[in-house]
Amino acid sequence: MRIQIINGPNLNLLGIREPEIYGKRTWEDYLKVLRNRYPQIRIDYFQSNLEGEIINKIQEVGFDRDGIVLNAGAYTHTSVAILDAIRSVTTPTIEVHISNVQQREEFRRYSMISSGCMGVISGFGLDSYRLAVEAILTNNRTE
Ligand code: DQA
Repeated sequence: MRIQIINGPNLNLLGIREPEIYGKRTWEDYLKVLRNRYPQIRIDYFQSNLEGEIINKIQEVGFDRDGIVLNAGAYTHTSVAILDAIRSVTTPTIEVHISNVQQREEFRRYSMISSGCMGVISGFGLDSYRLAVEAILTNNRTE
């Protein structure tokens, strides 16, 4: 089994960026824990601050992974191009947010990409990524 995690803009600063919202843990630290928890799954990781690079990655991996876990960061709320990329590939995508976007500013309450995704997980801190992996595992079992 192979899952692709894609993090969008500013998520390279996890642990430093607004720790009261996104926590103090670094991504590298969390990813290690996640990979150890699922030794049977190959978890690939990609981060970019650039919209086009995120789209390139979705196109590159979107036909042969078992799932994409995507935190598109602020592009969630704006990017038709990322929505189109998600819809253009066959691998199911799960939209993930660390914070509960529904409890935040008005502009974060709308997601441009949700309609292309299998589901949305938001508000569980970094554990949102694990919950997305679980959703992909369950989906795979019941397929
Ligand atoms: C985020 C929420 C977005 O609104 C924000 O722009 C981010 C992170 C989250 O994980 O909670 O960069 O996707």
